[in-house]
Amino acid sequence: MDDPAFNVETDLQTQSILLAAANHDIQSLRNLLRNSSANVQDSETGFTPLHAAIAACEPDHESKKDHSNGTTNGNTDEVTKQREQDIEAAVKTMKLLFENGAIWNDLDTNHETPGCIAYRLGLMELYELCVDAGVRAELLLSRLDEYQPLGDAASDEEEDDEDDTEDVQDNIEILDLNEDATQGDESTENPTYLASTLTFNRDRILDGSANGVMMQWETTLMRRSAELLLPAPGLRVLNVGHGMGIIDGIFQDKQAKSHHIIEAHPDVLKRMKEQGWYEKPGVVTHEGRWQDIVPGLVEKGKMFDAIYFDTFAEEYKALREFFTEFVIGLLDPAGGPTSEGGKFGFFCGMGADRQVAYDVYNKIVEIDLFEAGFDTEWETIPVPDLDEQDEWEGVRRKYWALKNYKLPTCSFIG
Ligand SMILES: C[S@@+](CC[C@H](N)C(=O)[O-])C[C@H]1O[C@@H](n2cnc3c(N)ncnc32)[C@H](O)[C@@H]1O
Repeated sequence: MDDPAFNVETDLQTQSILLAAANHDIQSLRNLLRNSSANVQDSETGFTPLHAAIAACEPDHESKKDHSNGTTNGNTDEVTKQREQDIEAAVKTMKLLFENGAIWNDLDTNHETPGCIAYRLGLMELYELCVDAGVRAELLLSRLDEYQPLGDAASDEEEDDEDDTEDVQDNIEILDLNEDATQGDESTENPTYLASTLTFNRDRILDGSANGVMMQWETTLMRRSAELLLPAPGLRVLNVGHGMGIIDGIFQDKQAKSHHIIEAHPDVLKRMKEQGWYEKPGVVTHEGRWQDIVPGLVEKGKMFDAIYFDTFAEEYKALREFFTEFVIGLLDPAGGPTSEGGKFGFFCGMGADRQVAYDVYNKIVEIDLFEAGFDTEWETIPVPDLDEQDEWEGVRRKYWALKNYKLPTCSFIG
């Protein structure tokens, strides 16, 4: 729309909504949202009403000073009470905004989502509202993605249904959890990755576009996963994705009875041969993509006490397909050292360049696992400061930016 009068009016409307949101002025906001969506953004700061509602709760300089030196100035109770009221008003404002189409993961010009601001300011109640909104939006999206109109010929009714689906999708910002930072980057697609030449270093594998395929710093996470999955010798394990062979090395130390490895990249397979993996005790190497190999294992009735999944350049959908369609057939319900059932683990790193995306993703994966018949236990493992250790030098994209890793171990429900 080129009409300057219209632009001025729209901008005024946006500024009024942002101001009402920042003031937690529910009544004005409600009136304004009668003719406008909450999905507006300040052209300079990129603030949405959600950003504004949360940022307005930043403690001012004076009250910060009072907290930091621990002094009581006689007003502490009043300050605390005022603060609680501010947060409560912010919660109401955010709920109203979400009801009116506010998008949970819009970025401002600082590259922060509303949830990032809440997290940075330690406003956990507000942060959780963002996470919950993210989970709702992403679950709805993934369900719509699965939605297929019935029948062959597209009847009018079906076309209407499709239109409805598109309308809903238009109203939700697509996060595509693991594509947050890789969207549109062909190098992170599985066929491109599998065709690229890998570089092996002592402490990392990089693909042809310098994406970090696997890095030594993950050893602590691999070790703990292996301990939880194979707590005793003599068990049967399946590992999908050999990479640097870190977890496979630990599985070997645990004296697995049988140790199946699925690996798709020719360079990794070549290296496995050079390093004698094909001759190690109990090892059976399956060359190819798990998508082509796993159905055959199910058909043959292969069963495992433990399954670990850690591939590269695959979307979340692939992991979900793996545990929904296949783990159920491959994990022995009477497996494990005390026959209490086998265990499934995976590298849990999607969305890990942003805390809020990581938390949304983890909740979604837990819900999807539950729907697939698994209970998940999470263990929190601290991750050292990888920037400080210069880990990312020469790596195209930091795929980890968080202080804690959430390690999932899944077992059959009941
Ligand atoms: C992150 S690395 C695994 C690291 C491993 N957990 C370790 O401890 O060293 C991912 C591995 O999965 C492999 N991979 C990627 N896509 C695959 C697929 N569709 N099927 C099987 N392997 C795949 C990659 O070639 C790579 O070796």
